[in-house]
This record gives sequence, structure tokens and C-alpha cells, in this order.
Amino acid sequence: MLWITNPHNPTGQLWSRDSLTALLERFALVICDEAFLPLVPDGESESLIPLLASQPNLVVIRSLTKLHGLAGLRLGYALARPERLARWARWRDPWPLNGLAAAAGERLLADPHRHRRWCERVQRWSAREGDWMQRRLAGLAGLEPLPSAANFLLIRGERPLQELREGLERRNRILLRDCRSFAGLDEHWLRIGLQNRSGNRRLLRALHGELNR
Ligand SMILES: Cc1ncc(COP(=O)(O)O)c(C=O)c1O
Repeated sequence: MLWITNPHNPTGQLWSRDSLTALLERFALVICDEAFLPLVPDGESESLIPLLASQPNLVVIRSLTKLHGLAGLRLGYALARPERLARWARWRDPWPLNGLAAAAGERLLADPHRHRRWCERVQRWSAREGDWMQRRLAGLAGLEPLPSAANFLLIRGERPLQELREGLERRNRILLRDCRSFAGLDEHWLRIGLQNRSGNRRLLRALHGELNR
């Protein structure tokens, strides 16, 4: 079985549909987590959803909590062949969603036009702020942002970044994602979530201040 995220978290790497299609031949079951794909400009063109009808070994999972900023509600869904979903429905907890999340989901998905417009707005923000932050972060000595298609950026420090992270938290009340819990990453890596322009400026000022202490 293969479980893959597209775009990948924490790098933000977007895989093309073609590169993933080949994997469907090699694994008995492929679960593709597209939690962040609706936030990626033109991301839907790489989605595996159109392959579901012809690929019985494919499952696509999505989350609404990223797109709508609903961390904590745990609201998402799986797309797969109906037989597989019916089998899962017999095994799983009888309460996969709580009442609040279900009410939010109904409301958010009620109007497809509104939903599409929201996705477009989020994608414009992600492209604009992502490019802007990439350029600004690359200008800070000692930090290297990796290219990302998503609404977060993985940054690598020339030196360990734990002190920087703690300084941001203590003196600036800004919390960056410690990446030591990701296999293969160590204290040289942090992940930044994109904000609006003034939030991004604030983060850059704080980073600059901490790096020059
Ligand atoms: C790639 C990926 N998929 C799924 C999830 C889970 O999302 P949710 O907040 O909807 O549980 C996360 C959470 O960070 C994630 O990074």
C-alpha cells in the first residue's frame, strides 16, 4: 500500500498527476491525501479524483479544515469506489464527524459557486503571498526557503533553528512549526504558514530581529 500527500507536507511539493498515475500500477492500494490541493493555484488539474472511476485501488482523501481555516473541527471526506466506502462504513466509528463539524460542512458546501469563488480567492492569496515570502525569506542570511506550491514554506537554516524558534515564541509571540517530528528532518528545519501581508511582514521583521541579535 502507498500513502502519499499531494501537495506534500511539509515541503509543499506538488506532484503531477502523470507522475502519480504510474504508482497505481505498482501498489495494491494507493491513498492520495489531497488535503491542501484546493489551496494550490491550478492544483485541481493534478488531482487524482478523475481517475477514481477507472482505478478500483485508489482512494482520495480531502480536508475542509485547511481551505476554510477550521483547525480543530476535523472535517474531511474520502472518495473511492462505492463498494470500498460501504465496507469502511461497516468498520469505522459510527460518529466520524461531530455535530459542529457536520453543520459547518453542510453550510460550506451548500453553494458550489460560492465554494468555487472561495477556492479561487484562497489560491490567489496563496500564490501572491507565497511568491512574496519566498523572495523575502531568501534575502535573510542563514535561511533558505524551499520552493512550495502550498500555503506553507519549509525553511532550512545553515545552523540549528531551535534558538530562533524559541526567540520568536518568547519575544514575538509567533509560533513556527518545529519539524523534528517529521522523519528525515532535524533542528535545521522549520515550517512557516502563510499569513496576510501584514502578518507576513510582522513575521519577517521578527525573523530579522532574532537573526541579528
Ligand atoms: C497532509 C495533511 N493531510 C491531512 C491533515 C489532517 O487535516 P485535518 O485538520 O482536517 O484533520 C493534515 C493536517 O495537518 C495534513 O497536513
